[in-house]
Amino acid sequence: MTKLADAAVTFDVQKVRGDFPILAETIHGRRLVYLDNANTTQKPRQVLDALDQYYLHANANIHRATHLLSERATEAYEGTRATVKRFINAADTREVVFTKGCTEGINLVASSWGRSNLRAGDEVLVTWMEHHSNIVPWQLVCEQTGATLKVCPITDRGELDLDAFDRLLASKPKLVSMIHVSNSLGTINPVANLTARAKAAGAVVLVDGAQAVAHMPVDVQAIGCDFYTFSGHKIYGPTGTGVLYGRAALLDAMPPYQGGGDMIASVTFEKTDYNVLPYKFEAGTPNIAGVVGLGAALRYVESLDRSGAQAHEDALLAEATARVRSISGLRILAETARRSSVLSFVVDGVHPHDIGTILDAEGIAVRTGQHCAQPVMDRYGVPATVRASIGIYNTGDEIAQLVAGLHKVREVFG
Ligand SMILES: Cc1ncc(COP(=O)(O)O)c(C=O)c1O
Repeated sequence: MTKLADAAVTFDVQKVRGDFPILAETIHGRRLVYLDNANTTQKPRQVLDALDQYYLHANANIHRATHLLSERATEAYEGTRATVKRFINAADTREVVFTKGCTEGINLVASSWGRSNLRAGDEVLVTWMEHHSNIVPWQLVCEQTGATLKVCPITDRGELDLDAFDRLLASKPKLVSMIHVSNSLGTINPVANLTARAKAAGAVVLVDGAQAVAHMPVDVQAIGCDFYTFSGHKIYGPTGTGVLYGRAALLDAMPPYQGGGDMIASVTFEKTDYNVLPYKFEAGTPNIAGVVGLGAALRYVESLDRSGAQAHEDALLAEATARVRSISGLRILAETARRSSVLSFVVDGVHPHDIGTILDAEGIAVRTGQHCAQPVMDRYGVPATVRASIGIYNTGDEIAQLVAGLHKVREVFG
């Protein structure tokens, strides 16, 4: 504890740990050390209880029936929309669309906005540090429309090349889609500043917030972006849930992404009129229980001392960064000044998967591989990395166990 920054000391991590039953799990005879939070987070009792309560006392379809259970389900589902609005400071609940995750949010914009706005000769600008889910949907829509995908390079330190960004904006891309916090490097991009530059160049701006929302306050109006998207499971909520925030004027002008129940006002064989926002983009029965659980997750995060939690995570990341340097042959993949939660590294002569296997035997869960960011791996000339990623419930002891596990890796591989 004494190694952690003062602000982090005020954060009661043991109390938070008590909210996450799975942290008591034993893995290969050891207590679980869960450092795979960028992949997915564990769920607090508050979320598990909300799911239970929903299925025990409110399970019904939403928006459709007049009976009491349907009213309860609708109220709980729409209650999450109000929570999300507050959580990201959207101007209106009409701007909050539920999806099954960040991937679907980006695909929705690429398919709906992209197909109706992009033409041959137009450009879409992404960055070199994107997750595949913010590359492939744009490649698909570029193939369909004849638009061109442009990529802003990154520096050796893992930051966006801002001069290149400005040069690329000079050719007036129609849309800029960028990651808020890199899942493979941990880099925090200055998204408000980048959005202002992109908008000054006339672009529509989407921000992929999958790795940001759990670690820092997000205010979509302060960022100034047109779209912001994230997944519920990376912020202590259920899998299969996510949010697409979109400015109402843009969403209003966009065609539906999928057709089906709930997204219509009236249907005849001659003509269908679509529902109002945000229902126009929520075809079919959604993940009602999951969305209810997402609301509980966001309210749980709101109930914490958020700046204390952030300072706690930052202090753990700084400690991990400093301590892994004692492992011979270990190289951190890009060390940016502004990083959140993620420590991505390689060890000379040892494949990341072998490191992951040895750590697993010690009860330590990390991710190894390309992290759905193959261009980042190519940029740094590595096939894969080991990624330890921190959440609110991690401790200094767990960082010490990670470092001890890595020393063991060195012993095994010489
Ligand atoms: C930065 C980033 N964007 C998008 C995604 C995709 O999220 P999901 O698989 O939950 O849709 C991830 C998942 O790791 C991510 O880290």
